[in-house]
Amino acid sequence: MARLRRTEPVARVQLASGAPAYLVTSYRHVRMVLSDERFSRRPVRARAVAPSGGRPTGGSTNGAPSSAPAPVFDFGLFIADQADHARWRSRTNQAFNVRQAEAMRIRVGELVEELLDGCEAAPRPVDLMDRFAFRLPLRVLFALFDVPDQLRPAFEAWALAMRAGGASMAAFGAAMAGLHGAAVELVRHRRGQLGEDPLSQMIGQSGDLSDEELVSTVMLLTVAGYETVATQLGNGLLALFQHPAELDRLRSGGVAVDLAVEEILRYAQSGTGFAGLLYTTCDVTLDDVVVPAGAAVFISPDAAGRDELRLPDPERFDLSRGAASHHLAFGAGAHFCLGAPLARVELQEALARLMARFPGLRLVPAAADVPIVSNRFNRLPAELLVTW
Ligand code: HEM
Repeated sequence: MARLRRTEPVARVQLASGAPAYLVTSYRHVRMVLSDERFSRRPVRARAVAPSGGRPTGGSTNGAPSSAPAPVFDFGLFIADQADHARWRSRTNQAFNVRQAEAMRIRVGELVEELLDGCEAAPRPVDLMDRFAFRLPLRVLFALFDVPDQLRPAFEAWALAMRAGGASMAAFGAAMAGLHGAAVELVRHRRGQLGEDPLSQMIGQSGDLSDEELVSTVMLLTVAGYETVATQLGNGLLALFQHPAELDRLRSGGVAVDLAVEEILRYAQSGTGFAGLLYTTCDVTLDDVVVPAGAAVFISPDAAGRDELRLPDPERFDLSRGAASHHLAFGAGAHFCLGAPLARVELQEALARLMARFPGLRLVPAAADVPIVSNRFNRLPAELLVTW
């Protein structure tokens, strides 16, 4: 990646299938691709659940067939089409923003403390991936949507299926169908009983988001806000354990946690992630390279965050230089991560409280021996066994 970034930042590559594609690795070019609506997100999203062109069957949370239509999970209504996306973002931006995320900070802090209580009570070594990183974002989503108790098992089952990693597309589709059933129930429940949560706000503030759009929004936020946070937290912790001097600076208060989180987002990204693949809708010229219409374009926000034209010595993990402008971990342009403010709150509260609770926290195996796994979207520690 580093070599390509220097010599050929927009490179023509060949996929294992033999099909041609493009790989974009520099900060400047990745930003251009992410911000330019001529690069569409549609085909990859459309295939996410229905690879064979068929739709997976819907399901309800009690196991009975749902009367709701089968999941429409291509987000086509509001993600792929520019005008629909703009309308959807104008609604969702009102409910999901920095103010709303900051309003959740106290609750997120409480959820972190509860999970740390669980870690403290558990036999050591404790696996931080299992007991902390994967549990926090799901609990935050419960709080975000104010999910009633009876619907939580369906979300938990979906989360478990996602964690099963190398699951087949069929298993992925089945898990999404389960999530769809729960989202349908949640929207129905909330329509009957509006509260203060963002979903209620979206229902209350505008009559023009249909039930189907609200259901898709719940699904999108759940998918986008679960594993991303868990893997980012896990990879960030691993990077800290790999750099003990930086870990010490963080726990001694020598560097602010918000800076640390930005450097973690730059240096310890989870992989190609959510924004990995786009398609050109027409011929697009990126500097001197003409990317033809219909081309598959892979971007690497990870490589972009290590661009020496953007910041010096990019392979060095240095918490104090953390800045949002150094990375593209949350994307760029119209599709910039809707949950970025909340993700930042989660990561900041998680790291700050973990360090404060366990000043002697240390990894049990050598950092180099931590097993790493990759799934469809992310690369993450399989486990992080710690003691204190
Ligand atoms: C560290 C955690 C996270 C990372 C690294 C991350 C990364 C990203 C990236 C790169 C995109 C852009 C995708 C594109 O250009 O197509 C994105 C979009 C999005 N993210 Fe996040 N995300 C995180 C957490 C969250 C959370 C917590 C939520 C909500 C609860 C969320 C909700 C969304 C949504 C709804 C979009 C689609 C926005 C749009 O297309 O307009 N994300 N995220």
